[in-house]
Amino acid sequence: MRSSARPYVAGALILWAVALQAHVWSIPDAELRRLRGDSRVSFVPSARGIRRVQKARDEAASDDESAFVVTRKVASDPRSALTEADVAAQSAIVSALRARWPTVKIVGEEDENDDAAPMSPKRGAPLREDLCAAIETCDDARLRTMRVKSEDVTVFIDPVDGTREFVESRLRAVQCLIGIAVRGRAVAGAIGLPFPDGDVASSEACVVYGAVAPGAKRGAVGAHGERGAALEIRFDAENAQVRSVTGDSKNAALIAAKEILRETATKSGATYAHGSIGGAGNKLLAVAEGRAEYALMHFGTSLWDTCAPEAIVRACGGKVTDLYGAPLMHYEDSPGGLVNQLGVVGSSAACEGAISHDAVCSEMRGNEDLKKMLNRFTGGDSSLAFGGDEIQASDVARCLGGGPLSARDVGDRVARAVGAEGDVSLSGYSAPERDAVRGLMSDACRIYFKWSTDDDGRLPRSAFYKKVDMGNLEYMRTKQVTQPLKIARDSKSYAVEASFLASDACKALEEAGIGVPICYAADLRPVHDDPIESKFSLLLEDFHPSDGWEQAKMLRPDQAKCALRALARMHAFFLPGSRFRKSSKAANEDLLATVWSSGGYWQPNMQPDDQMDVVASAWEQHMSSFGAAIEAEPTIDIAVARTVGARLQSHARRIGAETHPFSGCPGADDALRHGGERLAALQTVIHGDPKSGNIFERRAGESDEWEIGLIDFQWTGIGLGGTDVGHFMCASVAPEGLSADGAAENALVDVYYDAFCEAAAEFGAVSSKENAGEELLTREELQVQYENGVLDTMRCVFGYQWLRVKASPESLAKNAQSIGRNSYNKSLPNALWMIRTADLYLKAREARAH
Ligand SMILES: *[C@@H]1O[C@H](CO)[C@@H](O)[C@H](O)[C@H]1NC(C)=O
Repeated sequence: MRSSARPYVAGALILWAVALQAHVWSIPDAELRRLRGDSRVSFVPSARGIRRVQKARDEAASDDESAFVVTRKVASDPRSALTEADVAAQSAIVSALRARWPTVKIVGEEDENDDAAPMSPKRGAPLREDLCAAIETCDDARLRTMRVKSEDVTVFIDPVDGTREFVESRLRAVQCLIGIAVRGRAVAGAIGLPFPDGDVASSEACVVYGAVAPGAKRGAVGAHGERGAALEIRFDAENAQVRSVTGDSKNAALIAAKEILRETATKSGATYAHGSIGGAGNKLLAVAEGRAEYALMHFGTSLWDTCAPEAIVRACGGKVTDLYGAPLMHYEDSPGGLVNQLGVVGSSAACEGAISHDAVCSEMRGNEDLKKMLNRFTGGDSSLAFGGDEIQASDVARCLGGGPLSARDVGDRVARAVGAEGDVSLSGYSAPERDAVRGLMSDACRIYFKWSTDDDGRLPRSAFYKKVDMGNLEYMRTKQVTQPLKIARDSKSYAVEASFLASDACKALEEAGIGVPICYAADLRPVHDDPIESKFSLLLEDFHPSDGWEQAKMLRPDQAKCALRALARMHAFFLPGSRFRKSSKAANEDLLATVWSSGGYWQPNMQPDDQMDVVASAWEQHMSSFGAAIEAEPTIDIAVARTVGARLQSHARRIGAETHPFSGCPGADDALRHGGERLAALQTVIHGDPKSGNIFERRAGESDEWEIGLIDFQWTGIGLGGTDVGHFMCASVAPEGLSADGAAENALVDVYYDAFCEAAAEFGAVSSKENAGEELLTREELQVQYENGVLDTMRCVFGYQWLRVKASPESLAKNAQSIGRNSYNKSLPNALWMIRTADLYLKAREARAH
């Protein structure tokens, strides 16, 4: 077992570095020499050291003969003197950190220099805890209670940021940076300002520090020492509403980025001004402190330049990303090296109105100069012919490490997965914005391929890319506070989907002609003891419209039949008695380890506990919201309808247990025992979320036949086929496939049953189709399972989903055009069907009980 014994670094963790830094600045020279054990060291680390270098320089310049003698080396070569200060500072900082936190990873600008190696860890300087105090008193409970493990922490140190500025005597821009990243995210930082007023004489060094919980909109900030006069930036227009700062680089991408910002601002009616200042930390600090709205940096600033200031900008309510809008990743082993290879844009909290950070980044993604900067990943010009000339979702088309997907890597994987032979390779790809989705819980886009050779038709023209990085999504971070259990559940659901799609079982399913997407590549990085930090990505076969695939808002009867046949074949394929399950113990165990031990997101164990007990009271609300519509509906008797809530509630627990007998929910064991061997023989794998939004269809021949593609296996797990069928009927079928007396639904269940029996024989679970009823499942038994599935879905809809949004004919009408929503969330006839059918199936259940 990993873990519980491992040291957790408290919220306070965040502080030491910061604190340390402030401390280092006040260590007396003698003490430092002692620490360093080297009397030759003539410069005190960090701020103090830098200040001494400058002082010596000042004195030399004043022509004082004795001072000149002492500091000649300094005066003649501030750069080498500074390097020495740099090195000594880093060594002192690292030593103090190591003394307290022996295992955290530390990355410093001077790592290459042997003299920067830490001293004996026992001899680290004591730490100040200013930031700890700021965190303890801040408003954000997440930050106050944050706990991280020391092995997840990386500290980035730049003892002197702004070397050039120092050499050129632009002293305000000189900074000392210590940033703390947790799992690659900048969460805390301290910026030391040795010359807040631009010279040695008029002010003491000071430190600005801040910390912010991942996903929080604000954090704790503070300063140690006199902040001094604000750094002056000369903007080229006074009183502009949008002020940006950059360096004076001639970098084409940076010039393009500046122009985009100017255009976006002026288009929205704001006045724009630009100023140049040195130092990475300095630019971002200007944004944090509200002296500029935007900071732009070119490609290649170092991670130690941005870690501390990013945390402070975020703590002040601002935002920092790369130029394309993806988060910066501060890892000690970042694949792209220790640099921000795609630039940096920081914005202040003040921007989130008209000229929002996201809007600016979206413009960046459409800019030709900036797209060119990604050519080495995307394959560049070769992508132009097929969507590369459009705005790109270049923030979504990223691997889990944060870098852009690489054409070579993607090409190799796809070619291998489809068995394309010879030396075919991907010369380029595009990821157009029009096909991209940035969801609350995941991101997705289409990747269009340009292959090096005309293939024999096996190489796909596109693929579907889905990326789940919950820890970087604000919605998920909030949900973690309000509904922590759901985060663990959601995270597991992505792991289930990714591992199911990548499994041999899924491949076998696909080979058996059941429409599931081919998985070209899957990257799974689950974190079991901190689920929100899990990451997943999937590159899947694309059910693309140009190949004839469509998605319906709701399935017409002919489509519903085909979808039910596909589900039936999947259910039959995974029956315990099937060839697949019996043929190999290993394959069977793999399958069971991959999917949920009980499938279906609406099962009682995955829903709030009180859901079972609120159906009756929720029903009052639904009756008043839908009252007029029910009165106008001749097939529903309002007096009878009123009784449905209480009746459903009285059966809800039993129905839950019978519908999900393998879930271990209350009563499930009884249901299992009661069902005996016959029930055990039906313990198959169900889809778990068979809504029309998860079903693709394309015409097969002239008739009403459709080929079906199933997607979204997040809730796939062990269950009864009838459970999927019941949910499907509630969620997916268009009104013309449903009826007032249940006849149309039963005809659909007949279709399912026929396909199920046939497939059970085909896949070896029964001796013949004709014997399926006797050996496995009768039509009557299926009917009970199916009706349970419907009623169980209704408990979740009436007791939770409708309740949450106060569902009414008006609220449904608003969702009418949605593809993703369930039919009861977007169509009044379907909602009325639910109300009427609840009564019908409850009556059947009540009759069976007698
Ligand atoms: C239906 O609506 C409820 C309330 O908005 C929501 O919680 C649920 O996720 C929706 N489901 C679908 C698939 O439409």
